[in-house]
Order: sequence, then structure tokens, then C-alpha cells
Amino acid sequence: MAVGIFDSGLGGLTVLDAVAKRLPNLNLVYLADSVHAPYGVRDADDILNLTRNAVTRLWDEGCDLVILACNTASAAALRRMQEDGLPKGKRVLGVFVPLIEALTERNWGDNSPPREVAVQNVAVFATPATVAARAFQRELAYRAIGVDVEAQACGGVVDAIEDGDMILADALVRSHVDALMRKMPKPQAAILGCTHYPLMVDVFQDALGADVKVYSQANLVAESLADYLVRHPDMSGQGDASIFLTTGDPVKVSQRATAFLRRKITFASA
Ligand code: DGL
Repeated sequence: MAVGIFDSGLGGLTVLDAVAKRLPNLNLVYLADSVHAPYGVRDADDILNLTRNAVTRLWDEGCDLVILACNTASAAALRRMQEDGLPKGKRVLGVFVPLIEALTERNWGDNSPPREVAVQNVAVFATPATVAARAFQRELAYRAIGVDVEAQACGGVVDAIEDGDMILADALVRSHVDALMRKMPKPQAAILGCTHYPLMVDVFQDALGADVKVYSQANLVAESLADYLVRHPDMSGQGDASIFLTTGDPVKVSQRATAFLRRKITFASA
């Protein structure tokens, strides 16, 4: 059995790590579309085509269920893929909904009408494509009323992380937080809406201040997947070991992934 986890690059490894800790007996097939990363600067049609190809690759690998561990793909492609219809027995889930359910204090699948929630000012940090898609605001509006959302497109952060340049990533995060706080001086909560950003969570927290609750996705997605598989045990797919695939250079991607997760990760060619 295996579940597919897809990201444009290394960011989805934050989700994979949390899933592997929460569900140690579940095999995972991780696919990084490294050759086309970053997705966050591409247009929505481009992201849709790339995401479709990647998901099909994971289905071919025996994964009936694929998690888009990429907010950019979740925001720009997931809804259109679902509207176009998925092959029988296949499912694709994104990473937005578990986060919004946590923010709005809802249980999984609670489809009751939108209501007032504790937070009123929410800052969202994400890639330019995710911000442009406005998927976060759309999903939030289904569940909450009276929440003011300010989104900041964090250009350059994903490239810096993929290149292992954490000094540049640190400086960019601080300047994006500054820009956000000029538009919304007192956010109560901040959403890290890109799976690369958990790596920079301490910098976000430091720049935002201790009063701001920072929501990061990995553990929320892992918990939500565990819950989903209890309700859909048949969606664990086929496969007998966890593997890592990349459309890029496996040697280079393995080195960067090992540095990223601080444990040995070996990628093969997709
Ligand atoms: N880590 C991804 C996300 O969550 C993708 C970033 C990118 O490729 O630009 O948005």
C-alpha cells in the first residue's frame, strides 16, 4: 500500500515527514517536479497541466490517493481537476482545508453554514500563484464570517530554500512580514500557506512577534490524512516501500533533500 505525496520540489517533504511520523506503517511515494520548480511564479493553466502529469505519474505508481503537498497546486489546480472528473477509485486531496478547519475550529467534514470565529485578522503568506488564486479566501468564506484576510505574495523564498540559501530566505521572510504588517499592523493569526515555509517558522514567528499564532500545515495535514484513512481504509493504494522520485537530477535533489530534512533521503528518476 502507498499514498502519493506531490510537491513541485522539496517543500512537501515537511508534510511527508509529519505523515511518516503519524502513520509509520504507511508507505509513501513522494514526487518532486524539481525540473519545473518553482510553481509559484507560473500561471494557473501551466500549474494545472504540470499537476495533472504529476498526479497521473503517482497513480501509475499504484497510489490511489494523492496528497497535493503544495499549496500552489492545491490553489491553482485541485478544484479544476476535481471538476473535470477523476478516474474511478482515484482521489486527490489538497492541503488548504485541514488548515482552515483548524483556524475555524471545525471538525473534518463539518459543512454547517459559515459562522463567526475567534480570529478576525488573518495574515496569509504564500507564493504569488497561491495568492492570485484566492483559494484560501474562498475556502475560508465557506466556513467563517467576519474574518479580514491580508495575503502577502512571498516572491523568492521558495527559490532561496530550494538553493539552500537560508540567509537569503531569512532576509526575504522578514521583508515580506514587514510588507504584510504595513497592510495589517496587528494580525492575530498567520497562515504559512506554502509547504516550504515550515522550515522558516522561527523566522516568521520572530518577525511577527510572539502574540501572533502561526499555523503551519504539516501536522494538520498528517492528522487529517490519518482520519481520512480510518474512514477510507481502501485508499491506501499498492506498493511495498516508501520511495522518492524526482523529475530533476536525482543526485542533486537527494543532496538537497538530505540537507532539508537533516536525514538521508535518496531520490530516483521519475
Ligand atoms: N511548496 C509549494 C507550495 O506549498 C510550492 C512552491 C513553488 O513551487 O513555488 O506552494
